[in-house]
Amino acid sequence: MLRTHTCGELTAANIDQQVTLCGWIQKIRNLGGMTFIDLRDRYGITQLAFNSETNAALQAQAQSFGREWVLQAEGTVKERYSKNDKIPTGEIEIIVDKVNVLNESLTPPFTIEDESDGGDELRMKYRYLDLRRNPVKNNLLLRHRLGIEIRNYMSNLGFLEIETPFLIRSTPEGARDFVVPSRMNRGQFYALPQSPQSFKQLLMMSGYDRYFQIVRCFRDEDLRADRQPEFTQIDCEMSFVEQEDILQIFEGLIKHIFKKVKNIEYGPFERMTYEKAMNLYGSDKPDARFGMTFVELNDCLKHRDFKVFNEAELVVGITAKGCGNYTRKQLDALTDFVKRPQVGASGLVYILCHEDGTFKSSVDKFYSQDDLKAVAAKCEAEPGDLILIMAGPRVKTQKQLCELRLEMGNRLGLRKAGEYKPLWVIDFPLLEWDEETQRYYAMHHPFTAPKPEHDAMLETNPGAVNANAYDLVINGNEIGGGSIRIHDRKLQQRMFKALGFTEEQANNQFGFLLNAFQYGCPPHGGIAFGFDRLCAVLSDADSIRDFIAFPKNNAGRDVMLDAPWEISQAQLDELGLQLKK
Ligand code: AMO
Repeated sequence: MLRTHTCGELTAANIDQQVTLCGWIQKIRNLGGMTFIDLRDRYGITQLAFNSETNAALQAQAQSFGREWVLQAEGTVKERYSKNDKIPTGEIEIIVDKVNVLNESLTPPFTIEDESDGGDELRMKYRYLDLRRNPVKNNLLLRHRLGIEIRNYMSNLGFLEIETPFLIRSTPEGARDFVVPSRMNRGQFYALPQSPQSFKQLLMMSGYDRYFQIVRCFRDEDLRADRQPEFTQIDCEMSFVEQEDILQIFEGLIKHIFKKVKNIEYGPFERMTYEKAMNLYGSDKPDARFGMTFVELNDCLKHRDFKVFNEAELVVGITAKGCGNYTRKQLDALTDFVKRPQVGASGLVYILCHEDGTFKSSVDKFYSQDDLKAVAAKCEAEPGDLILIMAGPRVKTQKQLCELRLEMGNRLGLRKAGEYKPLWVIDFPLLEWDEETQRYYAMHHPFTAPKPEHDAMLETNPGAVNANAYDLVINGNEIGGGSIRIHDRKLQQRMFKALGFTEEQANNQFGFLLNAFQYGCPPHGGIAFGFDRLCAVLSDADSIRDFIAFPKNNAGRDVMLDAPWEISQAQLDELGLQLKK
């Protein structure tokens, strides 16, 4: 070992010991006769002291060092004159008597401190330097700890971690695949898995009745703060279980994680049907840290001469407590917010509930004080509150009001860091109609089982069929999702038919699965959690990027490697590929 200790462990208990440390120079301070260097490694920072009186040559040498140089320093641990109670090693310093420069460094392009002066792109380009910073390092430590806790919990319950292949076959359902050309099979392509869904089901057929895997998944979809093209799932599957068993076991996993990582204990998680989530929050992933739930106002606002409401499928409002004194400017800002293309609403109606019991609304022309009073009563709004109302097609309006609710939650400080509200959303519809392609898509995936009592409607009223599917949601983030699977060949064939597959297409794409169903397939179900998202939520972070050692930017690029990149003509030839000009 080139060192006796790390830079994070020496305290007053080590005083007078002779030690050797290795690390990077965080900072150099020259104070005339003394030079101090903050030496940093993964574990912390220790102050090195060089004294001109005892060793002038060594101090002069230390003065010539630069930031991020790598040193090996040998010396004696001494008590510091001016202590730093912010770091664990703040009581001591090392009086250095020998120093060895292990490597020099260029001046880094940004400061390697908790608050860096580097912008996003720059830090991504030099990610290996960014990873030296505490906030990023702490994220990776959390990720490691979480991984260990998950493996312990799963393994203790008899789950086997089994790896599944990355080079698989492309399927048309779900997101877009990343594909890999095959040299040995010209003109043919592998796809990288969007999830190990089929494999884990096949493992159930093989009798491995409790499987899990912390596994990389690949999806070529538009990126956002909570989406990366390659991300990690905690993927799980079980045989001989019903929905309730899965909810119990994996609620246990999440509780275990919160207890171990956050020291928070939870009672039973709330369970909310998809329908209730949409009606109360306008989202299947509600942030339930705060109320401000939706109130349907069709009956109280459709009886006057206001066309916008009368023609709308849904008139729906929320009450912002204590915002009844909002100024015109503040209200205009909210209207601008909902009109942004990202939200896409055509307008916003407000009712200010004055302290004196009167109302002022943007639709005073159409509604009397009594009308507004009735709305306030329905919304349980009190004097001093603000009611915000939107109208239009049901689902679209719900989604728009959801955005406004979250914005109000932010403005009012109701989405508090350090507060977590995990809940299950259950009873999802099996299918979702797509206007553009005029067909149904599986809301979860094509292997999800309809609720047995809805089975018969698969042909007669597919849109009304609910599934045994569930999502785990924390603070407005979809952290996990899963379902009870179809394990009967005939039902799977009916499902493919409902999705518009011909028998031939179904056999061509999923023949292996349909075949396997014929050899004794047990009832089974499972779930997958987004590992990166779980890390981010537990750290109250919006973006999953900083929980991934080497992430992609929003254009799907690795700016450090400059990937993706062209391949040579020789490689193209070998693969039998020709690029279209
Ligand atoms: P699903 O597609 O819902 O289900 O994915 C499971 C969880 O993975 C996370 N996730 C992502 N995280 C980061 N970046 C992405 N691009 C991304 N996409 C998804 C989410 C999500 O809840 N095979 C099924 C699971 C099952 O049925 O068992 C599946 O993949 O947190």
